[in-house]
Amino acid sequence: MKGKQEAIDIVERYGHGGDPWTAGELFQREARDFIDFSANINPLGPPTEVLRVLQEAVTEVGVPGLARYPDPANRALKKALAESVNVSESFLLIGNGAAELIDGVTRYVQPRKVGVTAPAFLEYERCACKEKAEVIYLPAGEKEGFLPEEAALIEWIHAVDLAWLGHPNNPTGLLMPLSFLEIAAKEAAKSGTILVVDEAFLDFIPDGERRSLLPRIKEFPTTILLRSMTKFYALPGLRLGFGVAEPGLVEGISAMQVPWSVNGLAQRAGEAALVTSDFANATWKWLQEERSFLLEGLKGLLLIEWVIGAVNYLLIKLKDSPGIQSPPSRWLQQRLGERGILIRDASGYPGLDGSYIRIAVRSREENAYLLTQLQAIEEELQKGLEGVDRCKEGGGT
Ligand SMILES: Cc1ncc(COP(=O)(O)O)c(C=O)c1O
Repeated sequence: MKGKQEAIDIVERYGHGGDPWTAGELFQREARDFIDFSANINPLGPPTEVLRVLQEAVTEVGVPGLARYPDPANRALKKALAESVNVSESFLLIGNGAAELIDGVTRYVQPRKVGVTAPAFLEYERCACKEKAEVIYLPAGEKEGFLPEEAALIEWIHAVDLAWLGHPNNPTGLLMPLSFLEIAAKEAAKSGTILVVDEAFLDFIPDGERRSLLPRIKEFPTTILLRSMTKFYALPGLRLGFGVAEPGLVEGISAMQVPWSVNGLAQRAGEAALVTSDFANATWKWLQEERSFLLEGLKGLLLIEWVIGAVNYLLIKLKDSPGIQSPPSRWLQQRLGERGILIRDASGYPGLDGSYIRIAVRSREENAYLLTQLQAIEEELQKGLEGVDRCKEGGGT
């Protein structure tokens, strides 16, 4: 009973960040009043070209974008994507967010054993559990330098039917060396394991395409690459993602999707997003500046042991300082939530505990606000400790 109570008292009640509605119930605030560092969405978006296309689609006279079914085969979007990522259309799978494809891949493979790194994005194991598969964890935590050991990786690939690698991984924000992915994809092909490399955040890296197996996907017939268009283009409410894989796999997984799973507005938004000219450069510039700003500010805080992350979110290890209730991740999430700031308590990720939180990189104003609120929390903590010490001294004399 206690476990159940705890399970509903947390901000991540539905398993993810980006849920100001649940936070609103817990912290007695309107959902719109939170600054959300718990979901990793580009604050520069959505791009103006995308917004224009969406406005046109809902106001069109004659054939309104809303009053007809979307193209069930995503034809125009597939064509645009094929040009953009330079693969033929038969290699493309379009989904209602990468999340739909994570579910679709798992249902298609019908695995008995699913390989998940610890830590990793929670949907991989959630989908495995829905299929009643056994989850086999590959350690990739602090002890391993957040990268699995090569021998362990190979053994793990051969031991499962479906394996997931995050590139960059969520919540660490770290990429895997390309040589490492290549080994994984080759071993997967040898053993017939379906390997999914989740590249949902790879577009935040300026030379991301050079760090992907995508240009060589034909060499790896059991590997699927997943991309999301909801993070970089800031369209999580619209939902859009895609996969790249050998056409047989694409057909099999597509057959598992519900009809029209990608709505008409998302199809048009996706097409428009692919031809935005300055948006990517502006995003990369913002990210470089703001990540450095946040890293600098965070390093100066007593609460924080270390910070890592190469993309638009940072994994933070908190110190177990006096005055902080355990687990520190929950304590800090609570203190910031009361101040209208949402962060991700990362203790729910396999392989992590209550020392870890994850925050997104946001605008300068929001990042600066987060830092001042963290400083204020530290100051309150210091004052509280001074009080405790004085009382002790007073009691002794
Ligand atoms: C690593 C990773 N993959 C996939 C997804 C799902 O993304 P989408 O919004 O495209 O469904 C997320 C969402 O947070 C994620 O973190």
